[in-house]
Amino acid sequence: MGASIFRKKKIENILAEPNEEGHHSLNKILTVKDLTFLGIAAVVGAGIFSTIGSAAYHGGPGVSLLFIITAVTCGFSALCYAEFASRVPVSGSAYTYSYISFGEVIAWVIGWALILEYAIGNIVVAISWSGYFNNLLVHIFHIHLPGWLLIDPETAVNAYHSSVKALSENTGSLTAAQISSYNFAIKSYTEAPQIGGMKVFLNLPAFFITALITWVAFVGIKESKQSANFMVLFKIAVIIFIIVAGSFFVDTNNWIPFLPNRFEGVLKGVSAVFYAYIGFDAISTTAEECRNPQRDLPKSMIYSLVICTVLYIAVALVLTGIEKYSSFKDVTDPLAFVFEKRAPWIEKIVSVSAVVATTSVLLVFQIGQPRIWMSMSRDGLLPKIFRKIHPKYKTPSFSTLLTGIIVGLGALFLESSLVTDLTSIGTLFAFILVGGGLLVLPPVKKETGKFKIPYINGRYIVPFLLALFIYCFRSRLVNALEHIGTESYQEVLFLLFLVIAAVITILTILRSYSFVPVMGVLSCLYLLIEIPAISWLWFFVWMAIGLIIYFLYGYRHSNLAKKRA
Ligand code: ALA
Repeated sequence: MGASIFRKKKIENILAEPNEEGHHSLNKILTVKDLTFLGIAAVVGAGIFSTIGSAAYHGGPGVSLLFIITAVTCGFSALCYAEFASRVPVSGSAYTYSYISFGEVIAWVIGWALILEYAIGNIVVAISWSGYFNNLLVHIFHIHLPGWLLIDPETAVNAYHSSVKALSENTGSLTAAQISSYNFAIKSYTEAPQIGGMKVFLNLPAFFITALITWVAFVGIKESKQSANFMVLFKIAVIIFIIVAGSFFVDTNNWIPFLPNRFEGVLKGVSAVFYAYIGFDAISTTAEECRNPQRDLPKSMIYSLVICTVLYIAVALVLTGIEKYSSFKDVTDPLAFVFEKRAPWIEKIVSVSAVVATTSVLLVFQIGQPRIWMSMSRDGLLPKIFRKIHPKYKTPSFSTLLTGIIVGLGALFLESSLVTDLTSIGTLFAFILVGGGLLVLPPVKKETGKFKIPYINGRYIVPFLLALFIYCFRSRLVNALEHIGTESYQEVLFLLFLVIAAVITILTILRSYSFVPVMGVLSCLYLLIEIPAISWLWFFVWMAIGLIIYFLYGYRHSNLAKKRA
């Protein structure tokens, strides 16, 4: 078994694979413009409209530096994705790339981790959509849904207990807005209906939007493309408007000090900011629907990343320029928040565009997940039904519906913060294996019409960068080493990172690895260790379940297993 779980697919075989579904193949209609739009559709969403608030609170105006650092990290990974997408233009994304580079079991692990990025990640986006949507219902249409229809059970119970406590301890310091929100939480809890003695809470709008988007993804890529293009234009226009309008309210005094909590404060925003960039890789799942994937996929990934980076840095600067960083504590709608008192009409526009932006993120991931399952099923790692293409709509019908059911049920009942961390871990994991994959594959010559990362010998730069990193983090290193038995898991992860980074650096010196993929692996590894250790525990549980499924099903049904037999 040892060797066979690492059996690999060959690029030549993948490209020559006949399409088993014959005439029921996917429509090849996407151009570089559509793909760039899809990339932006996937990237600009809950991150820039929500999670940027907590990052700004911890990092201050210096959070804009983090947007640059994360963009560079994602840039390394985007280049690696781009080269793979050009070499292997099929739907499976990081899953297929790992199958070629590292073998079957790692490919399965990545396919399983990508469910975290796509399906589980979409649960968070649907929940965030629901929050903004309810904002609109209340402030524009004056419709008030009962609280128990807007919330998951865990959040509802926690909110009830903390509200009762806060009101009972109130000595007159609470504001009217705080009292009203505590009363709403208590009312939502007490009014909730009961079934079999259990109170019922569900996030109905989140389920509703998931059902709608699943239907759009089911009826076809053409309709999905048109909806995505419209939503992208709208949200880009609003973000540019926010930057321009917001700049009139900027008070440059708010940018001083630039790093109020030093660089450590900035680094606390790593997962929030990384989450905002997730998505440019999702367009590689539409490789079979592109007119010219080898030429267009690399271009569009890089274009979408560059456009989002420029917008994000500008938004971060404007946001922290309008309002002092310390006001963003617990603010989940920072872009609307800064205009609330200054220009309420802009606040409403922001809320509408947040709804649109999160809708487009949902759409892209709801399209991406079924295409990954389709690839896994074609390899025999999942049952045949996962690759079934609808004869009329030409979309992977069963996989699309299953994605809808998983996301819809999750959005109805799950709490979102842990799910956000899991999404980031799963995505970074995939990025690392894509970068690592390029390092282990034999290099190819540049061919016309295909993208290839320019080769820069890493042995002359990587050791220097590692030394610089150790120098900058020397006090953290010394502290972690001095308290190695008693330090938190987070510091253990930091030490582990340094060991792995040292090994990769030595390998780079010995094997003259290409600079870009090495930096892709190292920078993503670093972001990974900044994610709370508790979420890692859940990640390992998720992975263990995945491996059990692989050994019970995929290992025996894999096409490569049949070939060997
Ligand atoms: N980058 C995506 C968002 O921010 C996941 O919603």
